[in-house]
Amino acid sequence: MTLDGPRSTGRVMTDLTLQAEPRTPVAPGTVVMETENMSSYYGKFRAVKDVSLNFLDRQITALIGPSGCGKSTLLRALNRMNDLVPSARVEGEVRFHGQNIYDESVDPVELRRRVGMVFQKPNPFPKTIYQNVAWGAKINGFKGEMDELVEHSLRQAALWDEVKDKLDQSGYSLSGGQQQRLCIARAIAVKPEIILMDEPTSALDPVATLRIEELIQELKVNYTIIIVTHNMQQAARASDYTVFLNMDSDRAGYVVETGTTGTLFTKPAKVETEDYITGRFG
Ligand SMILES: Nc1ncnc2c1ncn2[C@@H]1O[C@H](COP(=O)(O)OP(=O)(O)O)[C@@H](O)[C@H]1O
Ligand SMILES: [Mg+2]
Repeated sequence: MTLDGPRSTGRVMTDLTLQAEPRTPVAPGTVVMETENMSSYYGKFRAVKDVSLNFLDRQITALIGPSGCGKSTLLRALNRMNDLVPSARVEGEVRFHGQNIYDESVDPVELRRRVGMVFQKPNPFPKTIYQNVAWGAKINGFKGEMDELVEHSLRQAALWDEVKDKLDQSGYSLSGGQQQRLCIARAIAVKPEIILMDEPTSALDPVATLRIEELIQELKVNYTIIIVTHNMQQAARASDYTVFLNMDSDRAGYVVETGTTGTLFTKPAKVETEDYITGRFG
């Protein structure tokens, strides 16, 4: 089954239940994922409300906003990571290549392969560096040359030169910044299209943080990146588009303003945005 989205991405649409080709070429900047009136609940509590956003192919979108406004909840709704929370529920739609990812026919495991995630704290497996990168590909039935895949993924994550002589050492033997790049290599190894990052540098020192920010710029050539950050300098430095979320009186997070990062930080349309980016609250 192929599905054409309302705004065609120009890519061959593939049902998520099928194994997809790693990447079919499409002009950067077309919509690859979109949410429409998406709300995300924990039980009766609506944590995020009526979010309608477009995420563009091979662009970096930053999600910013005060603590607790639902940034992580929104991010996790984009690859159904919140399915793992029993009380969590989503209303509205999240479309990936035009297909609602909450449709019954969508396999969440395959979805998460194509929409990968990197977490706040580096979380390598208690395995060797090599096994950390090879793991996802292995369980996805990768039949190719594993050594090549591991090297390629580590190179893309800007970690190869630092680890090529110690691939059989534990992932835990690396520094925090290296561990985070290892997690990025692990995410890349299964050939995702989108990489979701939830405050990926918040546990890192400034040097390791800059290294990851540089890496994100390099990854943009091949991947669509959606990054949550509470660090406004980071959003300003590292993203193409920014979404500012705030919390309503009912504590539900909502989108205040979206735009190119340059415009949002220099000429915000809303006073609320200006107050936030100038540090008046949050
Ligand atoms: N697993 C959960 N169960 C219940 N409430 C949750 C859960 N995770 C987050 N929340 C609530 O949802 C709201 C948004 O949280 P979160 O998405 O973590 O915000 P942010 O990432 O912007 O700090 C908060 O009120 C938080 O307490
Ligand atoms: Mg969060």
